[in-house]
Amino acid sequence: MAVNKKIAVSGVRPSGELHLGNYLGAIKQFVELQKKYKTFFFIADLHAITEPQDPKNLSKQTLDIATLYLACGLKAKETVLFVQSHVPAHVELGWMLNTITPLGELERMTQFKEKSERQGLLAGLLNYPVQMAADILLYQAEIVPVGEDQVQHLELARTLARKFNTRFGNTFKEPQALLRKEGARVMGLDDPSKKMSKSAPSANNYIGVFDDPENIRRKIKIAVTDSGKEIVYDPTKKPGISNLLVIMSQISDTSVKELEAKYKNKSYGEFKNDLAEALVQKLSPIQKKYRELSKNPKKILTILKRGAEDANKIASQTLLEAKRKMGFLI
Ligand code: TYM
Repeated sequence: MAVNKKIAVSGVRPSGELHLGNYLGAIKQFVELQKKYKTFFFIADLHAITEPQDPKNLSKQTLDIATLYLACGLKAKETVLFVQSHVPAHVELGWMLNTITPLGELERMTQFKEKSERQGLLAGLLNYPVQMAADILLYQAEIVPVGEDQVQHLELARTLARKFNTRFGNTFKEPQALLRKEGARVMGLDDPSKKMSKSAPSANNYIGVFDDPENIRRKIKIAVTDSGKEIVYDPTKKPGISNLLVIMSQISDTSVKELEAKYKNKSYGEFKNDLAEALVQKLSPIQKKYRELSKNPKKILTILKRGAEDANKIASQTLLEAKRKMGFLI
C-alpha cells in the first residue's frame, strides 16, 4: 500500500441481520474505496454490546460479518480487516476522549434517544459515539464511508478532534463522512418514512443480505408503493416508489433518470418484478461466495488476526502521541 494514500476507516456492528441499507450505505462503498485509499475496515463488536447480545452468538456474528466483507469483495491484501476489540487502543482512546466530551452532546444524539426508549438508559449506549470517534481518530482517517444515520456521530468525532487539538496540541486529523449521493438512506420497504433497519418490528421492512430469491421476490412484491401509476422519483409525494428507484439504481448501476425513462409506460408490477430479479442477481453471487468462505473459518480468523496486528501498529502510535500530549507518564 502506498504511503501517501488517503486514509478511510469504517465499521459495521455484528448484531442482527445485515440488510440492503448496510450494503448500499456502507459495504459497497468500502469495496469501491479499497484500491484508492488506505483502508481500515473493522467489525464493531464493542458497539454491538451496547445492545443486549447473546454471548453464544457474538463471536459467530463477528466472524459472519468478516466473511461477508470478503464475500462482498473486500480483499485482505488491499485493506486492513480486523475486529475492533482485538485492538485495545480503541477503548483506551475512547476513555480519554470521554473526559473531554460534554454530556449534552451525547444526550442529543438521535440514535441514543431512539434506542434508549427501547432498551433503557445504559451508559454504554450514551457513550458509544465517543468510542466511535476513537475508532476513527486513531487511524488519522480523512474519510469515513457511512450511511446518513451516522453523520451526527461523525460530527462529534470532528468536534472531539478539534477540542483535543486545541487543548493539548495538534494530534488528530478531522475526518469527514463519505456519503453516497443516493443510497445513503435506504428506507423501509413496509414504511418508506423510516430508514431500513435491522431492529424494525417486521422482517418485511428490509431485504436481508442472506434472503433467498423467494423471500426477495415476496418482500418486493408487498413493498409499499404510492397512489398513482407513474414510476418517477419524488421522495415527498412518492416515497415508496422513490425508495425502490434508488435501490434499483444502486443495484444495477443505472441512474434514476435512466430508470424513469425506461419505466415510463410500465406498471409498478413490471418494475417490481425487474427489481426483484436485479436483487437476486446481485445477492446470489455474494451468498454463494459467503458459503464457500464459511467452510474455512480458520482462514478468516487468520486474516482478522493479521489485520489486528497491522491496525495495532498505527493505532498504538496515535494513542502514544495522544497520551504524551495529555501528559501521561510514558
Ligand atoms: P451499523 O452497524 O448500524 O450500520 C453499518 C453501516 O450501515 C449504514 N446503514 C445504512 N445506510 C443506508 N441506509 C440505511 N437504511 C442504513 N442502515 C444502516 C450505517 O450508516 C453504517 O455506515 N456505529 C456504527 C458502526 C461503527 C462505525 C465506527 C462506523 C462503529 N465505529 C467508526 C464508522 C466509523 C454502526 O452502528 O453502524
